[in-house]
This record gives sequence, structure tokens and C-alpha cells, in this order.
Amino acid sequence: MFANVNRPRSKNKFVLFIVATAVMLGLYLIIAFDHGLRELLRAQMGGLASQADTIVNALRLVFLGILAYLFVRLLNALIFGLAFRLRRGFDAPTLVRNVFSIVAFTGLFLLIFTSIFPNVNLGALFTTSAIFGVILGLALQDTLGNFFAGISLQADRPFQVGDVIAVGVQRHTGVVEEITWRAIKIRTFQNHVVLINNSSAAKEPIEVCARGNLNARLVYFNTLYIDSPAKTIHVVREAVREADNVSQKIAPIVRIRNLGDNGVEYEVKYWLDDYAKYNDTDALVRQRIWYAFKRATLNFAYPTRTLFVERKPKTGVRRGDGGAIIERLSAVDIFAPLSGEETAMIAEAAVSHVFAPGETVIRAGDPGSSMFVVHNGRVRVQVSENGKPRTVATLNEGDFFGEMALFTGEPRTANVVAVEETEVLEIGHGAMKRVFNTNPDLVDSLSHIIAERRQGLAARVDTSHGGGDESAGILSAIKRFFGLN
Ligand code: CMP
Repeated sequence: MFANVNRPRSKNKFVLFIVATAVMLGLYLIIAFDHGLRELLRAQMGGLASQADTIVNALRLVFLGILAYLFVRLLNALIFGLAFRLRRGFDAPTLVRNVFSIVAFTGLFLLIFTSIFPNVNLGALFTTSAIFGVILGLALQDTLGNFFAGISLQADRPFQVGDVIAVGVQRHTGVVEEITWRAIKIRTFQNHVVLINNSSAAKEPIEVCARGNLNARLVYFNTLYIDSPAKTIHVVREAVREADNVSQKIAPIVRIRNLGDNGVEYEVKYWLDDYAKYNDTDALVRQRIWYAFKRATLNFAYPTRTLFVERKPKTGVRRGDGGAIIERLSAVDIFAPLSGEETAMIAEAAVSHVFAPGETVIRAGDPGSSMFVVHNGRVRVQVSENGKPRTVATLNEGDFFGEMALFTGEPRTANVVAVEETEVLEIGHGAMKRVFNTNPDLVDSLSHIIAERRQGLAARVDTSHGGGDESAGILSAIKRFFGLN
């Protein structure tokens, strides 16, 4: 934060010390030479000799008044500067200190006054000055308004010194430096001081970002539509959470706020340790996002006009090149017996689909006429047990699923859900039939796998198909379904 510009306090203290010493000396002299002083004044003043006592008493009043003032200041420093700070951990508000000083000084002064001038009736003095009071009241209307608004602010304690506040429609924003009997003093982030009258502040909405509170900020950015949201969200969250002054207590949230004209619009919500440094932290967060984008080859979107030349698509979107798909399929164990040409034929027929984390790829009970190979990512096979999802297996890159419904013609036996952003290759009934015709052994190995998986399902939920030589039954079911001999 900005360094406060303080007046030299040590110089003030020294002056106070000199004044206190001089006043005490003066008072001592007046008391010690009281009698002599009165005699001297009487002799000097001739006709006005009767006033000599009043003058000496007035002198006493002045000196004692100054001493009372110094005493109140000392008391103020002890109570609010020391005890309050030790107990609460921060300085007492100036307004409270001032009210204390005024009340304590008035009380002390009245005490001194009545002891020096016992015959003067102060009550009468005040009541007879009603007109004076009205004039004074009118003149001090604004000042008193500020004063009472300040008192109500203090009583309410909506904010304190060190908090960041934004006041009114003009949104004067800065760190509260002082709350006096007249105004709230805030230091803006341009190091300007703004004074807001207490009475105006009392009427305006005030946004308080308290020091002890975990205050959040939002930072915005855009990406091109070709960049995957799951990847973007992961990359940005990891980049932001390590930045200085980003609170470790709550992980930053990255989310899509709009699908805009120029790209996908995101916001990062993060919490700050020290809210007063939000400008620097916002900038650091943007910087981290830029570098993270560079490393992860993500693209910022800016107002652009992109001309897309559409190639006739197959159903679904193909990602990656054909070589990678052939490589993936030839690593799948059930396709191991296939020739290079046959694998290439399946790869040609395969259609790629991308699923976000948590999305359902296939749903139990649905009819199914295709199977899937996990190309990138991970999926979970889940069945419903007492209304709750129960994971039967987790399948990784190179694993396949959906073969049961495809090969038997029965409904899907389980839900398959993407764990992270996942790309699957879908292979349809037609492509598999062509392969079966030339590879009858494939049907055999598949029926074993399906029987095994069914047992896996039966071990957890009661979907047992009766035991016995299940794979033989499945084998004939597959042959029937595909019209094989
Ligand atoms: P299908 O029944 O077509 O749809 C759900 C899929 O989940 C199923 O095919 C299998 O591919 C898969 N599946 C079911 N049970 C298991 C299991 N025990 N282990 C692995 N995969 C399974």
C-alpha cells in the first residue's frame, strides 16, 4: 500500500512537553505568590482594585484549563493509543477519541471553573443564552449533522480503518485511513485522499471489503471455440491458484459466462489474502493466464472474422489424424487378430466424439448398435444400486465398451460416464459385421469378454443371467444377431 504521509509526531510531543512545563511553572508562581500578586494588582489598578481578585482567578483558570487539556490528551493517549490498541489490535477511531476528549475536558473545565468561581451560576449562564444557542445551532447545522452521522457510523461499525470501501454512485474507492467527527478519509489507489462528509456517507450505499473477510474478484478472458473448456478450465485454475496474494483457503473458480460472438467467454473468481492489493493481483492473474495459454497452446479470442470452409462431415466430429486412430485400434486386444487392412477399415468407419467431464456417454436401458474405444481420457462404468450410482469398472485409453448391446442386441447394461474430458471412437454394427465375416474367431473371444463382464456386473448387482456356460449362450446370440453361421 501507499506509505502514509505522517506529520512528525516526536516534534509535537516535544512542544507539548515544553508547554506543560511552562504552564506548571506559571501555575506554581501564581499559587506561591498569590497574596503578593493580588496586592500588587490592587496597588497598580487604583479605582479598579476590586477586579484584582477576578484577574488572578481568571489567570488560574487559564493555567489550570491548559493543564486539564494536557491531562485529557495524556489520558486519551493511554486509553486509546495503548490499551485499546493492545486489546483490539487496531487504533481507536479518531471520532471516538475526539468525543472522549471533548466530554472529559468540558467536565474537568466545569469542575475547575466552579471551584475557582463558586459564586457564578453556570446554569443561569446557559439558560439565558437561548438566542445565542439558536444562532450557534443554525451556524453549526452542517457540522453537527456530520458529527451525529459520524457517531451513528461509529455505533454501527460497518467498517474500520484499513478496510477497502467504495462509497456512493461515484464509487469513490480506497482504503479507509481515518474516520473523524467531520468526514471519512479514504486513500484511493492513485494515492489521492478523498474526504467524504459523514452526513453524505450516511445517505449513500457503501460497499465494504473488510480486511478480515475473504473478498473475491472476477477476472475475464476469452478463448477461441476450438479450445476445449475442460482443458482451459484446468489450465487456468492451476495457473491462478499459485499466484501471490491469491488465497489458498478457497480454490479459484473458472467458469464459462457466455458463448460470445468472438469466442467462449470465461470468468475467474478468486479470493484475496489482502484485498487492498487487488489491482496488482488482477494483473498478475492475467499474466499467469497468458503464460499458461502459451504453454498449453490455448488461444485468446479477440474480435476476428474467421472464414470456415466446411468439408462434408461424417456424423460426429473426427479428431486427430487417421494414423493415430489406426494405432489406437490396433492396440485394442480384441482387434489384435485383425489384419492391417481390416483395422484400417474399422478406423475409417470409426467416428470420434468428445465428452466433457461428468457427461454420460451411454445410458443403461437404451438400445445400442455401436461400441466405443477410449481414445483419450477415462470413463467409468456405473450401475444403479439402491438408487445410487455404483462404479463397476474404470476404463482407460485403449479399453472398449458398449460391445454387449452391440453384439447381443440387448439394451445397454450400464451407464458409462466420462471422468475427465474424453474422446471415444464409435464403431457401428456394419463395420463389425464385415470384420466378423472374415474373422469368425473374433466372435469367440468377444463372447468370453462379454461373459466375464456380465459376471462382473452380477457380482455387484442382481443382474445375473443364471450362471452355467454363459459364454456359449452369448456366442450363439452374437451369431444369431449378426446372421453368422
Ligand atoms: P453395453 O451393455 O452395451 O453398455 C454398457 C457397457 O458397460 C457394456 O456394454 C460394457 O461394455 C460395459 N461394462 C458392463 N459391465 C462391465 C464390467 N464389469 N467391466 C467393464 N465393462 C463393463
